[in-house]
Amino acid sequence: MLNWRDEIDVKQKLERKHEKLLVNICEDVNSASIEIANIIAGLIREKEKAGKNFVLGLATGSSPVSVYRELVRMHKEEGLSFRHVITFNLDEYFPMNAGNDQSYVHFMHDHLFDHIDIPPENVNIPDGEIDQGEVYDFCQNYEQKIKEAGGLDLQVLGIGRSGHIGFNEPGSANNSPTRLISLDSVTIADAAGDFGAAANVPRRAITMGIETIMSARKIIFMAWGEKKTAVVKETVEGEVSDLIPATFIQEHRDVSVFLDQAASSKLTRVDTPWLVRDVKWDDLLIKKAVVWLSKKLGKPVLKLTNQDYNDNHLSTIIMNHGSAYDINLRVFKMFQKSITGWPGGKRDADQHDRPERSLPYPKRILVFSPRPADDVIAMGGTLNRLVKQGHDVHIAYQTSGNISVPDHEVIKHIELVMELTSGQNVQDIDLNGVKEMLNKKEPGEADHKDVRRIKSLIRKSEALASCRFLGIPEKNVHFLEMPFYETGTIKKASLKEEDIQKMVKVLRQVKPDQLFAAGDLTDPHGTRRTCLVALTRSLEQVKGDDWYAGCWTWLYKGAWQEWEISDIDMAVPLSPEELDQKRLSIFRHSTQKDVQFPGMEDMEVWRYSVERNRATAELLNRLGMAEYEAVEVFVNHKP
Ligand code: F6R
Repeated sequence: MLNWRDEIDVKQKLERKHEKLLVNICEDVNSASIEIANIIAGLIREKEKAGKNFVLGLATGSSPVSVYRELVRMHKEEGLSFRHVITFNLDEYFPMNAGNDQSYVHFMHDHLFDHIDIPPENVNIPDGEIDQGEVYDFCQNYEQKIKEAGGLDLQVLGIGRSGHIGFNEPGSANNSPTRLISLDSVTIADAAGDFGAAANVPRRAITMGIETIMSARKIIFMAWGEKKTAVVKETVEGEVSDLIPATFIQEHRDVSVFLDQAASSKLTRVDTPWLVRDVKWDDLLIKKAVVWLSKKLGKPVLKLTNQDYNDNHLSTIIMNHGSAYDINLRVFKMFQKSITGWPGGKRDADQHDRPERSLPYPKRILVFSPRPADDVIAMGGTLNRLVKQGHDVHIAYQTSGNISVPDHEVIKHIELVMELTSGQNVQDIDLNGVKEMLNKKEPGEADHKDVRRIKSLIRKSEALASCRFLGIPEKNVHFLEMPFYETGTIKKASLKEEDIQKMVKVLRQVKPDQLFAAGDLTDPHGTRRTCLVALTRSLEQVKGDDWYAGCWTWLYKGAWQEWEISDIDMAVPLSPEELDQKRLSIFRHSTQKDVQFPGMEDMEVWRYSVERNRATAELLNRLGMAEYEAVEVFVNHKP
């Protein structure tokens, strides 16, 4: 078989010189998943034609969900048959009852097996129900079964933030067989959402070994979203090491890697393209390159020299756009222009080179917040300024956010309501029954609708408290309670027209001059990503309205990520007092204080938010801008 490098042209070879795997960067998760499903379907059909079984290694988790959705569609609409497919899943938690919602048995039936014609006896998933004493034999037998089936024709892989494939956590050897393994703390944190809390996640799992995975004739590896960027870069460009077990696949002879734009964003050819090819310089790329150079050399922008540019693959900027002096100044001014203490524009001032217009003043402003607290976590300081500067600020909480209210908080609130015996809005709820239900609830079990109603009320009261603290009147606070969120579990329903109409309604009611919304494509449970899709779809519906032509939209990021410094269009500095106010506005969401977010397990969420704003200020300072306490940043929404 040819090496993938032999099949690409010289230009591509250069561009991919740091890549040790064949990487396909796709437009989005959907198109990538369709491509992967097509490959799988093609291989299944080929084998079927030859009268043979197709042996397919499968993964669980969020990554392959849309691949399975497409395979199901192909089965239903195009007659793709799985009668001659034998599957082996990578892993299962241990111990784990197959009937549990979190079991991989449940996952596979829910997403694939229940919707296709695979014979039940062809399905193999490591058994999480056996006694520990039986695990060794079970694993040997699993390996044997794979061999007897003819070996894996194809193994589908996702990757964990720890660098695991299957559950082969850091430290796994390249000759490791199917076995029992302890889960890495990062993996436990990432699974916490599915189990209600990190404490409920099983500490162990049975996983196919690296050797088992590597024995597959073909591997398809996929990774989506910003939270995978670092580990994807290591897997594709790093050295083979058991510290990132996924790097072992570099030694396999037939691997195809599929990434979406976000997951590929730290690969050399995407992040610093000037290192591997000739680039066409525009303002944005120049800004990005200068920030990169400044960070690399630890020098403020205005101190970079011609020599610095030449020595670091950036001589073409100098050749085409003037000396270091000119370029430095140009980039410095871009940053300078983006920094403003007047996020809604400054009254009676020439604002032509500022991020926002002066007029109209005051502005009608609408902030979409995926869940209560997302608004203040991301832009509490900016909100404070907008209110103080006299704008008519509205907040629309897109979802109830009820899923992240801890049960013990509900019990506390019920006791209070019972104490007060008013129980407005909850009169038809049997409070005692709910209390009992919560006391008996299993980890990760879906919430009863009455529990969700109470949790929504709790989050509403906190959101109102936070808005009150910032001086936003109650009549300006809108609770959309978008239905896609109301499943009672981490897994959300898909967006419906009803969700979009809720956003359209508030947009038409407020007719904002300025709109803020969450712009991140990645969050552990997908809520923010769905809210962004909903934003695009709702703006599409109002784009013909008179007010819309005068509406500027700004995107913020959540607690998980921040915009790249070179991408920002508006930076709002916060004084130490303003940062303190921001912290206090986050504190009003008291039930969220101890909620652990995947990837943020070592700190409370407010700390992440404040630290992140401080880090942005520090970074701007290192680039040569003034020294601020903290900075919140936004990018223009380009639909
Ligand atoms: C799942 C598995 C894991 C996942 C990985 C990524 O069977 O073996 O390696 O592929 O943890 O999970 P997601 O896709 O949820 O990010």
